[in-house]
Amino acid sequence: MKLLRQVPKILFGAGAFDSLGEAVSTLKNSGYAVYIIDAVHAKTGLVNKLPLVGNDYSLSVDTTDEPTTDGVDALRDEIKKRSDKLPAVIVGVGGGSTLDIAKAVSVVLTNPGSSRDYQGWELVKNAPIPKVGVPTLSGTGSEATRTAVLTSPGKKFGINSPYSLFDLVVLDPLLARTVPAEQQFYTGMDCYIHCVESINGSFKDKLITVYVQAGLAMCRDIFLKGGEPSDQDRENLMIASYFGGLSIANSEVGVCHALSYGLSLELKFHHGLANCIAFNQLEEYYPNEVSDFKEMLERNNIVLPKNVTQAVSAEQMESMIAMTLLMEKPLTNALGPDWKNVFPREKILQLYARM
Ligand SMILES: [Fe+2]
Repeated sequence: MKLLRQVPKILFGAGAFDSLGEAVSTLKNSGYAVYIIDAVHAKTGLVNKLPLVGNDYSLSVDTTDEPTTDGVDALRDEIKKRSDKLPAVIVGVGGGSTLDIAKAVSVVLTNPGSSRDYQGWELVKNAPIPKVGVPTLSGTGSEATRTAVLTSPGKKFGINSPYSLFDLVVLDPLLARTVPAEQQFYTGMDCYIHCVESINGSFKDKLITVYVQAGLAMCRDIFLKGGEPSDQDRENLMIASYFGGLSIANSEVGVCHALSYGLSLELKFHHGLANCIAFNQLEEYYPNEVSDFKEMLERNNIVLPKNVTQAVSAEQMESMIAMTLLMEKPLTNALGPDWKNVFPREKILQLYARM
């Protein structure tokens, strides 16, 4: 028996964003909402469409770099400085980084100390501020998971807790129309890789397999075809992203994520691109899926950066290997309980050296 965890409410469909205000108001109980929105939406104009009423306000976040524990703590301080009364709802509007920030802020507003104190599994004690997730970029699956991935000195790690799960997500594929093609490819590949790692791991079950198969089929359809995605593709990718997130939330990721976290930690690659760089070298673990991936790169005219680890110092490489070795759950899912023997540090070094 297994308990499937997922967000309790999904507002779905083209134009769903127009009902965001109404949906948020059901969680407000005469309080106010804080919208945390990706700074990119100053350019797309979405920031001007937020349904702010009464004491609601919005904070914009720069996601050029991946979210940090210091950044989350600073946002928490800013919100507490503005009012003695805590917000009733936190609404995250953006890609996976923004959604993870919103999740983490909702947790640290009601739990003492720094967000870095909660990086790990089941460390959050107090119920968070209710939260709503509105992805404007499909693929990360953050909208579906109980993980808020943050970087702190020396590690990239998630706050993994049932308290990190959104209370409501709004999936409106029209919001993804403004995403540049290359960014959508890398983030779409995050979803593809979630599905690949979940279906090839030992933690999956029958229920999850159905979601993964559907997510995989949608990713294959969109990215093996290549070219500018249609609105139908965007809708499918938003569904696939949710399914991929749901799958890893209820199974685990695998070898690719274990390596990509090291690349992001030391070389600051964004998660989707870091995954692509790592996955490109993983034929040994996911042969058919890597072969399809290479075809996807070609059909979408994507050229991955090469030799990215060539200039890393011995110290940086050590830190990357240490990061990978911290990923016990993904590596157990992918390689079994004996993973430390079949995936020793020399093997990890060899794979990093090829990237
Ligand atoms: Fe991922």
